[in-house]
Amino acid sequence: MPYPIIFDTDPGVDDAQAIAIALRHPDIELLGLTTTYGNVDVETATHNALLLAQLAGRSDVPVAQGAASPLVKPRHPAPAHIHGKNGLGDIELPKVQGKRDPRSAAQFIVDTVNARPGEVTLVTVGPVGNLAAALQLDPALVDKVKRVVVMGGSIREGGNVTPVAEANMFNDPHAAQRVLTAGWPLTLVGLDVTHRCVLTREHMDRIEAGQGALGKVLAESYTFYSDFYREFLGIDGCCPHDSCALAWLLRPELFTTAPGHLAVVTEGSAEGQTIFAPEGRGFIQERWSQTPLVEVCLEADGQAVVEWIAETLS
Ligand code: BDR
Ligand code: CA
Repeated sequence: MPYPIIFDTDPGVDDAQAIAIALRHPDIELLGLTTTYGNVDVETATHNALLLAQLAGRSDVPVAQGAASPLVKPRHPAPAHIHGKNGLGDIELPKVQGKRDPRSAAQFIVDTVNARPGEVTLVTVGPVGNLAAALQLDPALVDKVKRVVVMGGSIREGGNVTPVAEANMFNDPHAAQRVLTAGWPLTLVGLDVTHRCVLTREHMDRIEAGQGALGKVLAESYTFYSDFYREFLGIDGCCPHDSCALAWLLRPELFTTAPGHLAVVTEGSAEGQTIFAPEGRGFIQERWSQTPLVEVCLEADGQAVVEWIAETLS
């Protein structure tokens, strides 16, 4: 039975790879794409989401635009050196024909979950302001979603935009604090596992061959993105962060998880850090263990995950 999901995203090169999976995988029923600023501004994110759906022949998938900036802090400049100014490696892009859904991302999430209570999984792979806004509109969502899967955070791995913070958490720590402690069933897929996964040129050649016009955009934007990984991190390939959230959903046996309590640092030099207190572990004060229980990914079979991505899109 397919998984009905809403995919919340800031495309973004690795977002585009994950969107392709969400559009193509036979076990996913993609109910909609919701967009946020992050890797690009929100208008560009919406443009890219519409384009990717169109290239996959899936213009039937609604795209609803969401957060243009963080809840509290000022917006950081988009990381054009990683994803390109257009979010897709500055390659030339075909014209978009479709139009976005008139609703806000938050309203779209509320309407869609309420239409199918208990069925819908929210997969979020950008700053999480849209989920925080949806919770504000309808606090009872916590009991109506099937699960929330968050690509973000880091437990033992350290950060990628600061020594301790992962980009999606850092970009809106106040929203992240609300979403990660809301009390809905939640799984965190962070850098502890996404850094174990390296999507190589060989994988991307298979994806390009399998995905027609969409494959061309994925392959060309991959070149720009992997240049960043080579230059800054000395990696031959790229980490397909956002696809890992879908890999966890469909192939959880490739991941090791642990139950516990999360908190997000919202201010100061550790802003955006995710703090994890394993279930049952006593600390000097109880406050670390007072947020609702969630599940975090701690390890993954990285090779099997990237093979699954390539296989899905071949
Ligand atoms: C996350 O940050 C973004 O740049 C990526 O698209 C991914 O969602 C990784 O830290
Ligand atoms: Ca992303």
